[in-house]
Amino acid sequence: MKAFVYLGPGKHALQDHSKPALGLPTDAIVRVTKTTICGTDLHILKGDVPSCTPGRVLGHEGVGVVEEVGTAVTAFKAGDKVLVSCISACGKCEYCRRLMFSHCTTGGWILGNTIDGTQAEFVRIPYADTSLYHLPAGVDDEALVMLSDILPTGFECGVLNGRVQPGSTVAIVGSGPIGLAALLTAQFFSPAKIIVVDVDDNRLATASRFGATHTVNSRDGTAPEQILKITNGRGVDTAIEAVGVAATFDLCQKILAPGATLANIGVHGAKVDLHLESLWDRNITITTRLVDAASTPMLLATLTARKIDPMRLITHHFTLDRIEDAYETFGNAAKSSALKVIISAR
Ligand SMILES: NC(=O)c1ccc[n+]([C@@H]2O[C@H](COP(=O)([O-])OP(=O)(O)OC[C@H]3O[C@@H](n4cnc5c(N)ncnc54)[C@H](O)[C@@H]3O)[C@@H](O)[C@H]2O)c1
Ligand SMILES: [Zn+2]
Ligand SMILES: [Zn+2]
Repeated sequence: MKAFVYLGPGKHALQDHSKPALGLPTDAIVRVTKTTICGTDLHILKGDVPSCTPGRVLGHEGVGVVEEVGTAVTAFKAGDKVLVSCISACGKCEYCRRLMFSHCTTGGWILGNTIDGTQAEFVRIPYADTSLYHLPAGVDDEALVMLSDILPTGFECGVLNGRVQPGSTVAIVGSGPIGLAALLTAQFFSPAKIIVVDVDDNRLATASRFGATHTVNSRDGTAPEQILKITNGRGVDTAIEAVGVAATFDLCQKILAPGATLANIGVHGAKVDLHLESLWDRNITITTRLVDAASTPMLLATLTARKIDPMRLITHHFTLDRIEDAYETFGNAAKSSALKVIISAR
């Protein structure tokens, strides 16, 4: 089969690869029909994710059709159309029982990381019963691909951890796919103001179309002042960090109203300074989280009921044989205006 393989920092190729086989009785083999690329895949290609070693098939998002199931799989059978979660969960360990699936002692984020992933014609899914979802009828497959990772991430790590409330004021720093997923799902709770911050005017324009009440370009360094002005000097109730660099975490620290929550989503590769000297008396909460994809059933229900439209996140389409072009487009978002790219089996 064809598969997109990481071959070491800066090296990758679409290669002929052996088709995955069932390993444990709890496994399923899924024929991938649609997948996508995540910002994390770009980090892997740069060599930033040491757990992902050369030879690995990338990809942790997608939908497909069950080809074959192990003897212990009871919820799925060959021919079922399924959504693949980016998180594999045994459902039984201490962390799974606490719904912290990302910390599953034998699963978590392993797909396209420590085991072969979805950017291929077939993928082996461990713990199929608790890591796959049946596709609801009448919903576009491409919209469902947005539920493998980015919508649960924006919702769980940003909106739920950030305790977005009706009438509250929210800032989302970073208007990439994850920030936009937080923007779409924050609106479940009807906040009064949603201020989206980025350095890319094109992405800010997208945020406005997706429901941001205000946008701020932070390039000139005046974002804290601009946000304080928008909030009448008060600051925000929720600041969602959706970039993963020191400058954006620092901006979030500077715009918190008393009682606010700073919900970090970004993956940080370098240290950031915590300004307790100005925060100690402001009753703030700082949260961090790796996506658990525990909200996937709820998000599937909202999608089926058309309360959310993730199709808006999809900007480009490619077939699997053109996945190198898809990476090129996705990796040059400033030029290509790409958000999410869909890669179809054929
Ligand atoms: N916690 C989790 O489980 C989890 C899961 C998935 C992704 N992530 C992380 O979420 C973050 C966002 O992911 P993404 O795919 O949307 O990334 P992305 O790179 O596509 O988007 C980031 C956005 O931030 C903007 N930006 C960059 N520097 C900025 C700055 N100094 N000020 C303001 N804006 C700036 C960019 O213009 C871009 O629009 C990444 O760090 C990613 O690794 C975390
Ligand atoms: Zn991802
Ligand atoms: Zn587990």
